[in-house]
Order: sequence, then C-alpha cells, then structure tokens
Amino acid sequence: MRHLNSAPETGKFYPLRRRDYALGFVQQLKRPEVPDANTVARHWQADEAMMVPGLLDLQLWRSEIRQSRLLMEQTLETGEVSPILEQPPYSNRLLQNFPLVASSFEEHDEQGIEKIYFDAEIDSAGERVCVAEDLWCKASWLSFIEADASLRFRFSFGIECLEDVAADPERQRWAGHLCDAIFPESAVITANSTINSMLQTVVGGVPAFVERIVYFNAPNGGAQMHHDVERGHDGVVYGQISGSTFWLALGKQVLMDEFISFVGNDSNVDEIERLLPDADARVELKCLSLDRQVLAAYMDEFDHELVEAMMDRSPLFARQLVEHGYGFILHAGDVLLMPQRDSDTCVWHSVICLGDEPGEALSFAVRKAG
Ligand SMILES: [Fe+2]
Repeated sequence: MRHLNSAPETGKFYPLRRRDYALGFVQQLKRPEVPDANTVARHWQADEAMMVPGLLDLQLWRSEIRQSRLLMEQTLETGEVSPILEQPPYSNRLLQNFPLVASSFEEHDEQGIEKIYFDAEIDSAGERVCVAEDLWCKASWLSFIEADASLRFRFSFGIECLEDVAADPERQRWAGHLCDAIFPESAVITANSTINSMLQTVVGGVPAFVERIVYFNAPNGGAQMHHDVERGHDGVVYGQISGSTFWLALGKQVLMDEFISFVGNDSNVDEIERLLPDADARVELKCLSLDRQVLAAYMDEFDHELVEAMMDRSPLFARQLVEHGYGFILHAGDVLLMPQRDSDTCVWHSVICLGDEPGEALSFAVRKAG
C-alpha cells in the first residue's frame, strides 16, 4: 500500500479524512493473499491483526443488506429507531422471540440516539416463557461532529458499562440472537464455516459471537485509535458488508514502538509542533516517549490527547504505519481479525470510511461458547 501526503495526479488514491482531519491519500497496490487457518492462528497468537480478503458470501443476503441501509437512512432522517422496529419487516422478525419492552432516548449520553429494550421469549409446553431479560439494542452517533453521519447499533444487556457481561454467556447469546433478528446478514460471519474453523483454533473451542456492533461508517467518519479489550473475550472479528474502509491496526507494543520512533525522529519536529503548538505539551510528549511504562498507562487513560494528536491527526504518522505494513483497505466481503488478549498486548485500531457512500460493517467480539 502507498500513502501520500498530497493529492496525486494519477492513479486510484483514496483520500483519508475523518472528523475534518485530512490524513493523506492511500492506494492499494496489491490485495493480500487469503491466509490458511494455521497462518491466522500464528498471527493471532502474536497479537497481530490479520486481513482475510473476500471471505464473506454476501449474495444470499442482498435484500437484508438493502433493508439495513434503509434502517440506517430512516434513523438518520427521524432520529428514532423504535417506530421503525415496530413496522415490517422488523415487527415480523422480532415477533417470535423478542417483545419490545421499552425505549429510552438516552438524554444523559450525548452520542446516544435511542436504546430499545427487549425480553427474549420462547414457547414451552404451549406457554410463553421469558428466557432472558433486559436485552437492548442501542443506536449511537460515532462522534460529536455535525458533518459525520456515522452511527452504530450495539447489542448487549443489563447496565451499560457496569454489567460483567462475560459472566452471563446465556444472556450474551440472546443479545446475539436479537442482533440476528434485526440484522439477519450477521450470518455471513456467524454461519461462515471458514471463520468458525479459524476462530475455533484461536479460542480453543466453538466460537461465540457476542457484544455485537453493526456500524455504518459515513464519509468523514470512522473510529479513532482504540482497543476493544473486555474480560472474557478473545478478540474481534470485523466484516465489511458494503462500502470500503481504511484501517490502521497493530498490537499495542508495536504501536508504542512506532510512536516512540516517530517522536524521536528529528524530521517530525515541524509536524509535532503543528499538532501540539503548546511547548509544555511537547515536553510532556517527549517525556512519555522516554518511558514505556508511563506511555502504556497514559494510552489507557480516557483522555490521552498527546498520543491521540499523533495517532489520529497526523498524516505523517499514518504514513509511517502504512509504510511499516499496518494499513489495510477493506472492501465488501473482506474480514479483519483483531486479537484482544489484554490491555498490554491488544490490537489497537482506527478506521476511516473510504469513498462517497456510507458502508455497513459487522464487528463482533469472539469468545469460546460457554
Ligand atoms: Fe474497535
């Protein structure tokens, strides 16, 4: 892959732009090969991101994917989700197992659009029996930027951010089925025999797809550099359903190496001054780059502006990561696997929407089925 800072005159380059920050231009020179299960396992165990191109068979799910795009567009238009879910085809899909119990507009959460609560019910001996309570689907904006229409639908249960979700695999399973009911195209991952056998090797048993998120990354949108470590989960499988995205994805230790060498490189002095005009901030940045332990802890803080400035807003840092092989371009049908062993080793990643259209993507945590 090639990265340029300024617009090239020839060749198909994608502009990288997220939340009004321009991060240069990338060109895919060659698509990666499809790895076998052993190669995937080797990379996974080494805490490395691994792309598997063209793995998802999307043909069977064309009409569901079209419907999901409509759901996204109607959510953007109306700022509500529950009235859409109470109409066909959603009312029919949810009728069997998932009565809609309540909804909330999440006024305490600036990024929240609407959270819709469901119970899971099954028929047992002629009666309706509740098997899981307090499941939810939450629609949120990905950023506070007016010009970024990216949004996501997240599926989980219980009290957000407080519940130990890994301790209740049965409710996790039902929250996954709720995602299947609203986004049936989830089966391109969950029922994919190649993905299942690759993940079986790395999680050491039958994989379960939990804590699911369905994303719609829009132009000028995407996700800043972050990780997805959560107790009880081994990693994340990401599938591009429509549209295209650019990724930077690499293990935390390698990311720290890259950061340290970037800050220590004299040719980046002007760039660092541009990103951090305050001299005290630059001194602090230098100190961070001299102590790995302090840097590792700082990256885990909620506010880590000094590293965020480099990792999310510098085209030169993006170029360095691309040149060192940590950039990926995903098109519809491609998969990216990202191990999340623990907070020291997890694969950090950032995403940018490519092209003029929003695209759908599935991002599922994976664990051994409980
Ligand atoms: Fe993520």
